[in-house]
Amino acid sequence: MSRLLTIMTSSNTEKREHLYKILVIGELGTGKTSFIKRYVHQFFSQNYRATIGVDFALKVLNWDANTIVRLQLWDIAGQERFGNMTRVYYKEAVGAFIVFDVTRSGTFDCVSKWKEDLDSKVQLPDGSRIPCILLANKCDQEKQGIVTTPEKMDEYVRENGFVGWFETSAKENINIDEAAKALVNKILLNDKLITAADLADSDKFNLNNQGDQSGADSKTKCSC
Ligand code: GTP
Ligand code: MG
Repeated sequence: MSRLLTIMTSSNTEKREHLYKILVIGELGTGKTSFIKRYVHQFFSQNYRATIGVDFALKVLNWDANTIVRLQLWDIAGQERFGNMTRVYYKEAVGAFIVFDVTRSGTFDCVSKWKEDLDSKVQLPDGSRIPCILLANKCDQEKQGIVTTPEKMDEYVRENGFVGWFETSAKENINIDEAAKALVNKILLNDKLITAADLADSDKFNLNNQGDQSGADSKTKCSC
């Protein structure tokens, strides 16, 4: 979902308003809901209640003097596990976070499956991958596996087509805003490029319907 509204403010300056659909995916209990709750409501709870299906939250950012960014955050249950419904949930997303739990390396092992699932089911209108940031969550606790070696993480992220990665803690509010900012930066950049390409391309009015995706990639690589 990428919509742009241009409104005139009382001072007669042009104000741009963007609406972006962002996905938050990853294994069960990695902290997706906690990440969103911290980011949107500045709230954290130790209690674990598994998300069923999908939840939503809206975050409004006064990005700069002339730009308002509305993030529609889709909190997708870990138990969806690259199932059939994810294709529906991913539709029209323009950015994503994949979350793993630094205390359980098994949740990192599944990251590449989530990434494949994402890339195979949603693309930007120009056919490119949607920007995705990897979140190594629960960094307030003792880490396990690859995340203890940041250079290896850098390499992994590069090789697997992520925009970047952050160690985060929803509990201690570490790097939550920073990670979101990095993703929005990338989305805004893509938006500009795509809009410029659209204008240069033709005078057709494109309603951003994601191009031809119908059955374009009906193969699902993941089997688990
Ligand atoms: P599903 O909805 O089942 O996919 O899980 P989820 O990814 O939404 O996980 P959720 O946010 O519900 O968090 C799972 C558990 O981890 C909860 O008990 C949280 O309190 C805890 N948790 C989440 N983030 C952090 C964190 O940064 N640090 C610590 N110590 N615990 C966290
Ligand atoms: Mg959840």
